[in-house]
Amino acid sequence: MQDIDIVDLKKISEFIFQKYQYDFRNYAMSSFKRRVQRILELKKLTVDGLIKKLTETPSFINEFLDELTVNVTEMFRDPSFWRIMREEIIPAILLNHKQFKIWHAGCSSGEEVLSMSILLKEMGILDSVQLYATDLDTTILERARSATYSLKNMELNEKNYIRFQGAGSLTDYYKVENGYAVFNKDLLANVNFRKHDLVLGEAFNKFDLILCRNVMIYFNQTLQNDVLKKFHESLFKYGYLAIGSKESLIWCDYANRFIVVNNEEKIYKKIKD
Ligand SMILES: C[S@@+](CC[C@H](N)C(=O)[O-])C[C@H]1O[C@@H](n2cnc3c(N)ncnc32)[C@H](O)[C@@H]1O
Repeated sequence: MQDIDIVDLKKISEFIFQKYQYDFRNYAMSSFKRRVQRILELKKLTVDGLIKKLTETPSFINEFLDELTVNVTEMFRDPSFWRIMREEIIPAILLNHKQFKIWHAGCSSGEEVLSMSILLKEMGILDSVQLYATDLDTTILERARSATYSLKNMELNEKNYIRFQGAGSLTDYYKVENGYAVFNKDLLANVNFRKHDLVLGEAFNKFDLILCRNVMIYFNQTLQNDVLKKFHESLFKYGYLAIGSKESLIWCDYANRFIVVNNEEKIYKKIKD
C-alpha cells in the first residue's frame, strides 16, 4: 500500500474543498487516510495523479466520493436499538404528536430507513410519519431509492429482524427478482430521499427524531461539535437524537442541552433550546 503523509492528505482535502465544495478537512485522519490509500491502489494512481484525474474528469468526483465514504450498513442494525425504538421512543413521541417527522442523516444504501418504515408499518402508523433520508453520496442514495439488495446481504438482515422480534417475516416485505431482494415500494412512499451534506449543509427542517448512526465516528471532535449544533437546531424541544452504539456526545459543547435517555443504545433527548 502506498504510504501517504499528512501533507498529502491535506493537499487532497483542500483540493476537493476548493474545486468541488466537499469538506473532508475535519474528518478523522486515520480512516480518511485508509480510504484515500485504497482509492490510490484501486485506480493505480499517485497523489498527484489523483488530483490530475479529479481536475480533468469532473464526473470522477462521484465515484471518488462513493469510495471515500464508508457505506457499510444493515437492516435492523443492533436489534436491541430497534426494540427500544418500538417499545419506548416512538410511543413517547406518539403521546404528544399523532403525526411526526424523522430524519435519517447519513442513510447510506437505505437499510436503516427501510427498517424504520417496517417498524412503523408494524405499529400501524406508517402513514402518519414523514421520513427524510439524506446522504452526501449520490451514488449510494440511488441504491437507497431502489430498495434492492443482494440476497447475500439478506441473511444478516433476516437474522437482525428475528432478533428485533418483528411481527412477521422479513420476506413479507420483498420479492426476489434476479437474485435480488426488491422491497415493496409502498414502504418508501413517505420517504423523502435527498442529498445533504452534514458539514456544509444548513438545517432544513424540524424533527421529532433524528438518527445519525455510525456517521460522526468518521469526524474529528471539532466537526462532531458543529454537527451536534445542527442537530440541536433541527430538533423540536423534547425531540430525540440517536447515534451509533460506539459513539458519544458527552464531551460536546451542546451536550448539556440534551439528556441521556438510553446509554446503551445512545439515545438522547433535547431538553433545552
Ligand atoms: C457507515 S454509513 C452509516 C449508515 C447507517 N446510518 C447505519 O448506521 O447503518 C455512513 C454514511 O454517512 C455518510 N456521510 C459521510 N459524511 C457525510 C456528510 N458530510 N454528510 C452526509 N452524509 C455523510 C456516508 O456517505 C455513509 O453513507
